[in-house]
Amino acid sequence: MMAIAPGTGMAQALRAARAALSVPGIEDPALDARILLMEATGCDATALARDPQAPIDAVAAARLGAWIARRAAGEPVWRILGYREFRGLRFALTPDTLEPRPDTEALVELALRQATPDARKKRFLDLGTGSGCILLALLSESPDAFGVGSDCAHAALVTARANARALGLADRAAFIQADWAAPFALATPDGGGGFDLIVSNPPYIPSAEIAGLAREVSGFDPHKALDGGDDGLGPYPSICRAAMQILRPGAALVLEHGHDQERAVRGIAESVGLVFAGSERDLGGVLRAQAFTRPV
Ligand SMILES: C[S@@+](CC[C@H](N)C(=O)[O-])C[C@H]1O[C@@H](n2cnc3c(N)ncnc32)[C@H](O)[C@@H]1O
Repeated sequence: MMAIAPGTGMAQALRAARAALSVPGIEDPALDARILLMEATGCDATALARDPQAPIDAVAAARLGAWIARRAAGEPVWRILGYREFRGLRFALTPDTLEPRPDTEALVELALRQATPDARKKRFLDLGTGSGCILLALLSESPDAFGVGSDCAHAALVTARANARALGLADRAAFIQADWAAPFALATPDGGGGFDLIVSNPPYIPSAEIAGLAREVSGFDPHKALDGGDDGLGPYPSICRAAMQILRPGAALVLEHGHDQERAVRGIAESVGLVFAGSERDLGGVLRAQAFTRPV
């Protein structure tokens, strides 16, 4: 473990942390060192700039030393801190939840464009909700909506519920353990669907590629959140079929997918009768999410 002596000045600790994190596999040691220092000491960027020689107390020094050792061993910064921000909201993380990614904000943008305001209280469904980040971001920006998140992982749902409570959204969000939309499809066998928006960021990495991903992903994100089967497209047919049944006619299904899966996902959605309605690129310019509507 890297030792930071109590009483070390902030700027000196920052330099030591940056040096310890300058190892292969860590893309931005300076940024990571800064985030960990500020969290360990509870000091913000302004305080750090105003008094860079301020001494670090014993508790913060021990915490920073332990965190730097974990980061140097490959653990992602936000897993160490136990939370990640997504669309300006804070989401607690556990080993059972995917770490929300900025790329997924493209899906939220596209979904908000599909869910046009009207007088009714709208119903959203998030399939594979994980930390609840997509559903809760949508609800926080749609005061007229109620939402359900499903996941096969019970432990992820515990975290999603806690996130809903922490964000003051628990009275508009429910979470259930399910295999995608199975309970809802069973409840509406005649196809009289009632959801005004369905969103999903399913696992979409081909099974054989998972071991070759960056260790920050393969070693720390839950396998269930990554593994999309042989071709990475495994979950999409069930999700699209269910959407055709349980979406209100005219309403949209919005799906995230991998950088090279645009045509395949569109083909799966159109093969069940959904109609392409738009797409959105992520921060890196990659087409990351597509929307499809159930015909009226
Ligand atoms: C890529 S993660 C997305 C998590 C979260 N929505 C996000 O965007 O950060 C996929 C999620 O789907 C869940 N999942 C995998 N297979 C599932 C299934 N058969 N039914 C429901 N959820 C499933 C995983 O547990 C995981 O939480």
